[in-house]
Amino acid sequence: MTSIDRYPPMTIADADDIGSNPTDNSPLIEIAARRYSRRAALRGLGLTGAAGLFTGLLGARSAKADGNPSTLTFEEIEQGIDDGLRLAKGYRADVLIRWGDKLSPNAPAFEAGKSTAAGQAVQFGYNNDFIGFISLPVGSNASDHGLLCVNHEYTNIELMFPGLTEDDKLDKATAEQVATEMEAHGHSILEIQRTGDKWAVVEDSPYNRRVTATTLITITGPAAGSDRLKTSADTSGMSVKGMVNNCSGGITPWGTVLTCEENFNNYFGGDPSAAPDAASFKRYGIKGEPEYAWWKHEARFDLSQEPNEPNRFGWVVEIDPFDPKSPPMKRTALGRLKHEAATSVIDKSGHVVVYLGDDERFDYLYRFVSKGTYSAGDRKANLGLLDNGTLSVAKFDPDGKLHWLPLTYGEGPLTEANGFKSQADVVIETRRAADLLGATPMDRPEDVETDPVTGRVYVVLTNNTKRGYNQIDAVNPRADNTAGQIVELIPAGGDGKDADHTAAEYKWDMFLVAGNPLWGTTMYGKGTSKNGWLACPDNVAFDPKGRLWIATDQGGTQKKFGIGDGLYGTDVSGDGRAVTRKFVAMPRDAETCGPCFTPDAKTLFIAVQHPGEGSVFAEPTTRWPDFDQNLPPRPAVIAIVKEDGGEIGS
Ligand code: FEO
Ligand code: CA
Ligand code: CA
Repeated sequence: MTSIDRYPPMTIADADDIGSNPTDNSPLIEIAARRYSRRAALRGLGLTGAAGLFTGLLGARSAKADGNPSTLTFEEIEQGIDDGLRLAKGYRADVLIRWGDKLSPNAPAFEAGKSTAAGQAVQFGYNNDFIGFISLPVGSNASDHGLLCVNHEYTNIELMFPGLTEDDKLDKATAEQVATEMEAHGHSILEIQRTGDKWAVVEDSPYNRRVTATTLITITGPAAGSDRLKTSADTSGMSVKGMVNNCSGGITPWGTVLTCEENFNNYFGGDPSAAPDAASFKRYGIKGEPEYAWWKHEARFDLSQEPNEPNRFGWVVEIDPFDPKSPPMKRTALGRLKHEAATSVIDKSGHVVVYLGDDERFDYLYRFVSKGTYSAGDRKANLGLLDNGTLSVAKFDPDGKLHWLPLTYGEGPLTEANGFKSQADVVIETRRAADLLGATPMDRPEDVETDPVTGRVYVVLTNNTKRGYNQIDAVNPRADNTAGQIVELIPAGGDGKDADHTAAEYKWDMFLVAGNPLWGTTMYGKGTSKNGWLACPDNVAFDPKGRLWIATDQGGTQKKFGIGDGLYGTDVSGDGRAVTRKFVAMPRDAETCGPCFTPDAKTLFIAVQHPGEGSVFAEPTTRWPDFDQNLPPRPAVIAIVKEDGGEIGS
């Protein structure tokens, strides 16, 4: 390991931002800052900012003797970027599985630079993102045995194979390399078992499975069979080959995985102008400017040849991990978006509620409420719950109210006058339907998670550098928002299981406004240290005690912030509310994904995504996790345990 690149001195860390940001004299920013202050004061929380600097250093009003007001007692690690992964003292991180590792005894071993499509189809995929843990045996709360369900969002072909760069990969990628990329996408299901404090993959498990960009998937819900989904390979519009860009997801109460197709527009080449849905393609960024060479090798990714194919992507896919032969289902009732995650909760009424974010600048937050109700013990019935229900989009009022606006065919503007002939049309063009309803354009909705203790819902907005000063509002309060914020939704009805997740109206509050506190436009709890601030929150997870763990993805801006990506823990209530503390730091150029706890909170799985991104196979910026000169960096899932066997974080 090399020495850590420490973040630059605070006074110059964000000179660019301060220089281009008229904070000093902007009445709008002052209004925003006053808003945070007022809201924070109402809760008895402090505001960190230019005036208060790091309250952890100055001593928080209500801090405990050691200055830490949080229930999370781990020793924070330093901000900074290293070749390797760093984590809090007293904890250990083991690599559980890497890209290319075998998922069956007959799978070929990983060979650097020589991956094949056939091999990759039975090996762990690339760029792991969402992680879900389902205890085994079925229905138990076991924390030493289970299924791990892992998304593989995308590929970095220039790090998988020698001789390719970001600039020439579209011209030089071979048919076999493209086919390998398709098999490296999608999802892995693997059985894992803990012996002592060590986790291992059960290599010969019958549950081990890959779903890739070539797996046959059934289309269900309102859009199934629509003419707009029919292609030469599927004249019924009822099934589709594969899923792509599966970013985050969720585990349902009946033990299935929801895996979300995000930036599906990046896979289609050719000319979109003659497509029947050319206008709708624009709203989804489908321009025929792909980031992959797939369209040159498979006609279905060529818009000139298969103009309906993009309508078959951008969905939430449900996979039953306990039935490895069952086809995955694209659940179209949940809308067509750049889906980030799908977080489900059983409402006290029995309806299943799924929260969904559309990760694009100025796009929206959604909620699905099932028509039917959950039946404990009737798994087959529960498997159909996501095909019927009401999809709604969020409209935030500045006074702290949130309205859920139903996207229902025939209601309001969603009629033939506006080109919607059925609910199929509404879900295929979810974004345009939501535009017409006047939804609130957000700063890139990423993960959404529900607090198991309070029932409150946390919406992560990662950043939006395109928001102008004339576009700020209460819930998206900063122009040129480089660092993001987390918003708290408060359903009516009370705490925990009493929360009414089907209500048409919620309350909302600002939980945290990220970035360097020296900017003066951030909001953390009092006691946040110089190592605790964060930028670009993305995936989040609650531990069983209701503490929120925030993973960051600064994209290409790691060097700008200087702190690297990592995982931060915080309380959501009490003195430690929004006091974020850094627990893990990612290897160089990697993003933190998929934090996931076992039910006993003694293991934390994290997906380390795209280590070394921005470099090439021959000269990677890191060779994590093996640091072997013959191996490229490899995305991997790590298992973190406390060395004394205790719960993570405390
Ligand atoms: Fe793939 Fe929105 O992160
Ligand atoms: Ca994400
Ligand atoms: Ca992200």
